[in-house]
Amino acid sequence: MSHGDELDPKSINDFKVIATTKNSVAAIANPKKKIYGVQFHPEVSHTEKGEKILLNFITKIAKLKLDWNMPSFIEMETEKIRKQIGNKKVILALSGGVDSSVLAVFLHRIIKDQLLCVFIDNGLLRYNEAKEVVAQFRKHFLIPLKYVNARKIFLKKLRWVSNPERKRRVIGKLFIKILKKESKGFYYLAQGTLYPDVIESVSPHGHSQTIKTHHNRVKQVLKMQAQGRLVEPFQQLFKDEVREIGKKFGLPDSIIHRQPFPGPGLAVRIIGRVTLKRLVMLRKVDWIFQKKLMEYNQQKNFWQSFAVLLPVKSVGVVGDRRSYGYTAVLRAVSSLDGMTADFEILSKEELTEVANEIVGRVEGIARVVWDITSKPPATIEWE
Ligand code: XMP
Repeated sequence: MSHGDELDPKSINDFKVIATTKNSVAAIANPKKKIYGVQFHPEVSHTEKGEKILLNFITKIAKLKLDWNMPSFIEMETEKIRKQIGNKKVILALSGGVDSSVLAVFLHRIIKDQLLCVFIDNGLLRYNEAKEVVAQFRKHFLIPLKYVNARKIFLKKLRWVSNPERKRRVIGKLFIKILKKESKGFYYLAQGTLYPDVIESVSPHGHSQTIKTHHNRVKQVLKMQAQGRLVEPFQQLFKDEVREIGKKFGLPDSIIHRQPFPGPGLAVRIIGRVTLKRLVMLRKVDWIFQKKLMEYNQQKNFWQSFAVLLPVKSVGVVGDRRSYGYTAVLRAVSSLDGMTADFEILSKEELTEVANEIVGRVEGIARVVWDITSKPPATIEWE
């Protein structure tokens, strides 16, 4: 355990130390008062038996009933949404990801055509993604969907921005501006905000220590939140729970098992300035990587697999000539909820094939590296 805090035995009164590690106290208890404290994270998937510890606390000590499950959640939220929305109109920005797709179906069941979905193409999506999302959505659902092409304006606004937090703010702000234009006459904004988005966007130590600003927590959205105009029924859920709801409503596997994709898209996977040339390059690298993973039957094993473009150039040899090009990073991770993650890797033969194809087919890339850092200490995205 990496924590090193200690307890002074004289000051703990009725508390007992009930677990220790080599360098620290891991848990204390005051059985009489039923107060228990741990100095580790039972809630993260890496903690062996963490779930069991929580379960014991909830059922045996707090004596609570386990009646919070997906069917009861759906019932409760349905009622709440019906009351909240009344006959007002709701706009939902559909990204094609699990969260917004499940939310669209969830809301449409309740409020029918009071809901309009808008797909804003910010040009920061992966290869062919915009087309696929619109086609897939129209094929599977009968929910009104408007496509807005905003590729040029996003790129223009990002032109001189290289700081990741600023990128997030520029994208978030523009996104809301476009959405606002599209949403004249709509009172509510629906978002597929999940619990990790909420906790990573707030910090007990002030804004400077926020891990990152999620696109669904930018200033304009916070303003709507204060006015009670957000509809965010999933904000206490984790991804696997949203997937469960999606399954219950019959969403196809291709949507339910879609890998998470950050709101600011490829802009946070291009380190430094975002230009059209870099976007095209990264899209090609990512597409080759995904294609290869599908060929190896590996894609579905990962929580996420993606490429990152570094503004670092190095020397290479192409044919008998010297080349000088950018570096692409490949990353694959396994995770249950995105809060912690383990890096994954391919076999040497597969890695060789992927690297050769990328350097051979994507002009401007001279080197391919693999990220072998887990979360923590790293995050999943590079930014
Ligand atoms: P990090 O990089 O913090 O990411 O380990 C955790 C998970 O969140 C995704 N991610 C986002 N998802 N809006 C989102 O909806 C965002 O702005 C955003 N940024 C990161 C990331 O891909 C990973 O799955």
